[in-house]
Amino acid sequence: MATDAPVPRPGILDIEAYVPGLSSVPSGVKPIKLSSNENPLGAAPAALAAYRAAADHLERYPDGSATALRRAIAGRYGLDADRIVCGAGSDELLSLLAHCYLGPGDEGLYTEHGFLVYRIAILSNGGTPVVAPEKGLKTDVDALLARVTDKTRIVFIANPNNPTGTYIPIDEVRRLRSRLPQRVLLVLDAAYSEYVRRNDYEAGLELVATTTNTVMTRTFSKIHGLAALRIGWAYCPAEIASVLNRVRGPFNMSSPAIAAGVAAMADRAHEDAAVAHNERWLAWLTAEIEKLGLAVTPSVANFLLMHFPKGEAAGAVACDTFLQSRGLILRRVGAYGLPDCLRLTVGTEAENRAVVAALAEFAGKHGLARSGEAAKPAPGKGAR
Ligand SMILES: Cc1ncc(COP(=O)(O)O)c(C=O)c1O
Repeated sequence: MATDAPVPRPGILDIEAYVPGLSSVPSGVKPIKLSSNENPLGAAPAALAAYRAAADHLERYPDGSATALRRAIAGRYGLDADRIVCGAGSDELLSLLAHCYLGPGDEGLYTEHGFLVYRIAILSNGGTPVVAPEKGLKTDVDALLARVTDKTRIVFIANPNNPTGTYIPIDEVRRLRSRLPQRVLLVLDAAYSEYVRRNDYEAGLELVATTTNTVMTRTFSKIHGLAALRIGWAYCPAEIASVLNRVRGPFNMSSPAIAAGVAAMADRAHEDAAVAHNERWLAWLTAEIEKLGLAVTPSVANFLLMHFPKGEAAGAVACDTFLQSRGLILRRVGAYGLPDCLRLTVGTEAENRAVVAALAEFAGKHGLARSGEAAKPAPGKGAR
């Protein structure tokens, strides 16, 4: 082997490549994909029409500032369009934030079961990932604060978090912000915020508006059903927007994505329908799965986390293999430190009924309801 081959910068080889949710099953049966928290209602018809219309002008570069999309978002939420930066999914924005605010020797902080992209973003920029334990599968503000050092530059929290589906109240987020040093950038990843129906929850717009060091990221991949188009946005203090705009690709949003995003922002009825569907079926799935003897972490998002007994036969991996044989694709979450769990996205009515029927078959085979073994979350796990 050549000894003078190019070598990636320190940290890169420590990254485990992100493994997305599966989309096919070995058995060749028609797959039902409930592994990536996508919208079972699809995209709004107006967004699809706008996307198709944009196909007439593929020879033109897009508007590099995504002006129409930023204005549509600003109008919808009452924000300053100049402080919105759009990206190819919120993934791009999370990476850009780490790229701009963290370097070798710096630390980036996130929670025990936090979204995997944070670790990747930190390591890619030569930073050191620091992980704060969670309490009852929830972000623990005190644990985060206890891990802040002179080297901390950025803190990522997903609220609600993926894959746990849990959230922390806005008062806790404010407490975190007020105790973090001013130089530390707090990134509030609110990818699932539209689904949350809790009085004590806010995505963080006001914190961004009133501080110089807080950014909120959002996505069109979930509630707007546009995951394929890769549309995310960040609401930032003006200085941070200006920094991101220097570094992002000059044409990081395609014209079809901009057009579809503008149309999606205007379609409140589609968004409301997606929220109502989720509210109904999240509750139904939670109740039905608990009846089978499996513990479910209470979720406020469009997915839920189920807990299986430890061990081979009736465990999460065995159940996943069984479900795949029925065409049902869920998400293994061992990479998130949750080897005894599976994550299930809320699907259409037929998909939800199919997954509960298959889980009932699995639970029946392994006597889960009788033993009640999996219904008892481990200490500190799955607590409400
Ligand atoms: C917590 C969280 N943040 C960000 C994202 C990235 O979303 P996208 O890049 O599609 O906008 C996801 C996607 O699953 C997520 O779960």
